[in-house]
Amino acid sequence: MIDKRHKTLGEFIIENQSSFQYSSGELSKLINAIRLAAKVVNHEVNKAGLVDILGGVGETNIQGERQQKLDVFANEKFIQTLKNREIVCGIASEEEDDFISINSSDEQHQNKYVVLIDPLDGSSNIDVNVSVGTIFSIYRRITPVGTPVQLEDFLQPGKNQVAAGYIVYGTSTMLVYTTGFGVNGFTLNPALGTFYLSHPNMQFPENGKIYSVNEGNYVHFLQGVKDYIKYCQEEEGDRPYTSRYIGSLVSDFHRNMIKGGIYMYPKSSVNENGKLRLLYECNPMAFIAEQANGLASGGRHRILDIEPTELHQRVPFFCGSKNMVEKLQEFLDKHYYGK
Ligand code: AHG
Ligand code: MN
Ligand code: MN
Repeated sequence: MIDKRHKTLGEFIIENQSSFQYSSGELSKLINAIRLAAKVVNHEVNKAGLVDILGGVGETNIQGERQQKLDVFANEKFIQTLKNREIVCGIASEEEDDFISINSSDEQHQNKYVVLIDPLDGSSNIDVNVSVGTIFSIYRRITPVGTPVQLEDFLQPGKNQVAAGYIVYGTSTMLVYTTGFGVNGFTLNPALGTFYLSHPNMQFPENGKIYSVNEGNYVHFLQGVKDYIKYCQEEEGDRPYTSRYIGSLVSDFHRNMIKGGIYMYPKSSVNENGKLRLLYECNPMAFIAEQANGLASGGRHRILDIEPTELHQRVPFFCGSKNMVEKLQEFLDKHYYGK
C-alpha cells in the first residue's frame, strides 16, 4: 500500500543528492527530467487502445496534433524534455541514427552528462496491451565540457555509467533506477501523478526458478545455450524451472529481479550478435542487475567491461540471478573452451 508515509521520488532525489561525488545537482535535475517525461509517456501509453477512437496514425486528433507511433512519440518526449531543460550535452537514442549534440545557452552551466535511451522497449507489445518500458543510461562525458560532444562520449564501457534505470508501463507504472548505491523502485500513483518509493533496495534473489528466452529460436542457439535450457527443463532438485517470456526486456527483467530468474538473448546462427543493443538496452540493465546482486554476461565477458565500437551495436545478453548466470556460464565455458 502506498500512503503518505512513503517517500516520493522527488524527496528521495533531494535526500540522496549529496552522496554523489562532485555533486552539483545536475544529475538530480536530470533524473527529475526523466521522471517528468516518463509521466507524459505513461499517459500516452495508457490510452494506446483508444487510438482508433481518437484518430489513427496519419490523422489529426482533436488538439490538431498528428497521431504518431508510440515509439516515435516517446522518443520525441524524452528528447524534448532533456533538450528544453538544458541538462545534458548529448543524447543517443534507439530511434535516432546519430547522436544529438546539445549546446547550453547558459555559459556558466555547461553540462557534463550524456544520456542513452531506448524510448519504448517492447513496442511490438503495445497493440496487444502487454507491458512495455523505457530504458536509460547516463555517463559523464570524457571530452572537454563546453565543446560539442563526440562519439567517444557515448562509446564508453558500461562500467563507467553514473546512473541507469527503466520505467515499466505495466499493471502499474514504475520507475526503477540506480546511481551506483543500490537499486530503488518507485510506483506511480496515477491519481496524483506522483512516484512513491515502493521497492527500496531491490535485490535479485541469488537463486531463481524462472528462465526467459525466445525458445522459438532454439534450433539456432549455440550448443552451450541449448544444454543450459535442457538443464532448466530436467527433473532434478528444484528443477524443472518455469519458462516465462513476455518479449519486453524491461518487463521480463523486472519480474526476474523480483522473483528470481535469468533472461537470455543469445547470439544464433541467424543473428550473429543477438538482437539487443549494448548501449541503451544491455548496459543499463547490466548496471542495475549488478547493483541488485545479480550478474550480466555477454557469453564470454561481463557486459559492463565491453568496449563499445558502434552506437547501435548488438551483443548477446544473459542476465539475472547470480547462481543462475554462473550456472549458464559453466555451460558456455564448456562450449567455448571445452572445460
Ligand atoms: P524494442 O521494442 O526496443 O525494439 O526491443 C524489443 C526487444 C526486447 O524488449 C525484447 O526482449 C526482445 O526485443 C524480443 O525479441 P524477440 O521477439 O526476438 O524475442
Ligand atoms: Mn528495446
Ligand atoms: Mn525501443
